[in-house]
Amino acid sequence: MIKAIRGFKDILPDETGLWQEVEAAAARVLRAFGYQEIRVPVVERTELFARSIGSDTDIVEKEMYSFPDRHDASLTLRPEATAGVVRAVIEHNLAGDGRPLKLWFMGPMFRYERPQKGRQRQFHQLDVEVFNDPTPHMDAEIIILLDRFLGDLGLADVEMHVNSLGCPVCRPDYKETLKVFLRQAKSDLCPDCQRRLETNPLRVLDCKVPRCADIVRDSGAPKITDHLCPDCRAHDASVWSDLGRAGLTRVHRNPFLVRGLDYYSRTTFEARTGELGAQNAVAGGGRYDGLVRSLGGPDVPGIGFAVGLERLTMLLAEQSRAHRPGPDLYVAALDDAAVEASFGLVQATRSSNVTVEIDYQPGSLKSRMKRADKLNAAWVLILGPEELAGGQAILRNMATKEQPFFRLEPEAPDRAAARLTEVIVKPKE
Ligand code: HAM
Repeated sequence: MIKAIRGFKDILPDETGLWQEVEAAAARVLRAFGYQEIRVPVVERTELFARSIGSDTDIVEKEMYSFPDRHDASLTLRPEATAGVVRAVIEHNLAGDGRPLKLWFMGPMFRYERPQKGRQRQFHQLDVEVFNDPTPHMDAEIIILLDRFLGDLGLADVEMHVNSLGCPVCRPDYKETLKVFLRQAKSDLCPDCQRRLETNPLRVLDCKVPRCADIVRDSGAPKITDHLCPDCRAHDASVWSDLGRAGLTRVHRNPFLVRGLDYYSRTTFEARTGELGAQNAVAGGGRYDGLVRSLGGPDVPGIGFAVGLERLTMLLAEQSRAHRPGPDLYVAALDDAAVEASFGLVQATRSSNVTVEIDYQPGSLKSRMKRADKLNAAWVLILGPEELAGGQAILRNMATKEQPFFRLEPEAPDRAAARLTEVIVKPKE
């Protein structure tokens, strides 16, 4: 038997309902905030990711699916969406008019990581990006947007960690200060951090090895927020003032939050939960003011985030908000004649967007009612030899148990469907 590749997962019929709920919630919130959808390719030139995410990040060093094409150009399955969106914005000059450009994107991403709970090699992101708005209000708004989206889905227990990573003016000095501090503790750091200390010392702050985390937390590592330049400090203060005004309650300042991608400047954030074990970030993002220019575009500021949809749906399922909505109507046809008599009615009722289920192989009343329960149908239309003879079926409301009769009109299925829809849909409104 040929199986799916390790770390690549099917999303099964029982799960897709939840995915659609998430997608619908995203579309609702994003529309309210004025975003437009963009769709970018799955494959880009490897160089795009190396130049944007950073050549000494884990993603670029060891997690990319890269391969030569038939002419030996190095291509890569996108490990994230920001780089591709930025490339498209530059290529089509979408931000050239200087007006804020608000985009969203949803699709699969690929990282060659060790698969575990909440970590796959193919996973999906909802990605949100804003160009041409350098103001701290947009940093706050985008965090509020993420919070609203998670809140709308009913996610409890998600905490927003927010930090500022400074800018090219203040970060180099901070890096030096951090290096000096870390060198004193070098021999206690994990081998990866001993190496990163010199190349990318900020990554040490984010190391998951307990020994490294203890050194950072308990030995007074310098905090970037104490080393911001006046502009970054003012920007950061304004973000926090907006977040306060918006009444966000689960927001924490985390001066040791660093992200696994190098393009960030100033505000960075992550939505974290205690319910996913080691993979605790449901979403992450931040400002990337220098990225568009560094990829050959105009000097356009950017900010965005991405939500990991596997982690999100997993959380929702664990919180048992997963409910599969049943059909509006299940037609219980008890013999072949009942199947014949209801066929036209079923099709006509569906054409007014009522969800109707029927089994074309007839069964006993008991088995049909069991099936209606399993499907979680709101109404059942019971149709057997007696009902056919009398020209009336029983229409049962599964919640109230009320059972009005329904006059069959085999010669006029459209008219019958209209009457049926009237009864079924009205009480829901
Ligand atoms: P990221 O933090 O690398 O950021 O990924 C965002 C989210 O994708 C994570 O918080 C996580 O939920 C999910 N994720 C990442 N890797 C995996 C994996 N292997 N399996 C399952 N889920 C995963 C970015 O990708 C940035 N492009 C976000 C951004 C947009 N920043 C600015 N704009």
